Amino acid sequence: MTIGVFDSGVGGLSVLRHIRMMLPDVRLIYVADSAHVPYGDKTAHYIEQRSIALTRFLVKQGAKAIVVACNTATAAAAQTLRREFNLPVIGMEPAVKPAVSATKSGVVGVLATTGTLKSARFSALLERHAKDIEIITHGCPGLVEQVELGDLEGQKTRQLIERYTEPLLLQGADTLILGCTHYPFLAPLIRDVAGSHIELIDTGEAVARQLQRRLLAELPDTQPGDGTAHFFTSKDAQAASLILSKLWGSPIEARKLPMEFA
Ligand code: DGL
Repeated sequence: MTIGVFDSGVGGLSVLRHIRMMLPDVRLIYVADSAHVPYGDKTAHYIEQRSIALTRFLVKQGAKAIVVACNTATAAAAQTLRREFNLPVIGMEPAVKPAVSATKSGVVGVLATTGTLKSARFSALLERHAKDIEIITHGCPGLVEQVELGDLEGQKTRQLIERYTEPLLLQGADTLILGCTHYPFLAPLIRDVAGSHIELIDTGEAVARQLQRRLLAELPDTQPGDGTAHFFTSKDAQAASLILSKLWGSPIEARKLPMEFA
């Protein structure tokens, strides 16, 4: 069984690590679309085109299911991918429902890209799950770039987190949704800035569980796989290998995505 996973960059690794833990035998192919990061300030059409190209590549590599390990790309392109490709497409969205259950103050903050926050999909999500709770959102320009640089604790990253979390905390949020797959890598710093009493919620584990369910239900007879993981980037393979290895916690040698998909 081969699973294809993609993100605008390295953020999707925060989802991939849960997939690896839950499905140790599957063959994983991960694409970091580093030549086009960040997706957060691109048009929905642009992200849709990138998502289609990356999915084509992953299918060519033998992927039997696709995980869109990116909230922004899910909002912009998941529907199109489901229409264009005949295979399970698992997307992700900010964890509004669990946050609504977790909050005691009745105020939940959402940190996400501007693309996710202004999407119709996100409005519908609030409409469905957050009627009686106050939800305060904050776009986080620049934060994805810091993670792409591997700067998880530096001064600039801290300042950005202070700027983005302060208004949410001042308004009484006791729960923060990490609505972008890059942000779980910043969780220690966010906790340090916001305080350990603030609950941080992300969707990585839930998405891995959803993938597991879909595979069992829809592809029950597929052979398990060889447990390997393969990494591709649309930018410089050497630079990507360095940062992917840092975030993954063991050496990764990324390969360059073929020109036609990059
Ligand atoms: N990691 C992505 C997400 O979950 C996108 C970040 C970006 O490229 O702006 O939204």
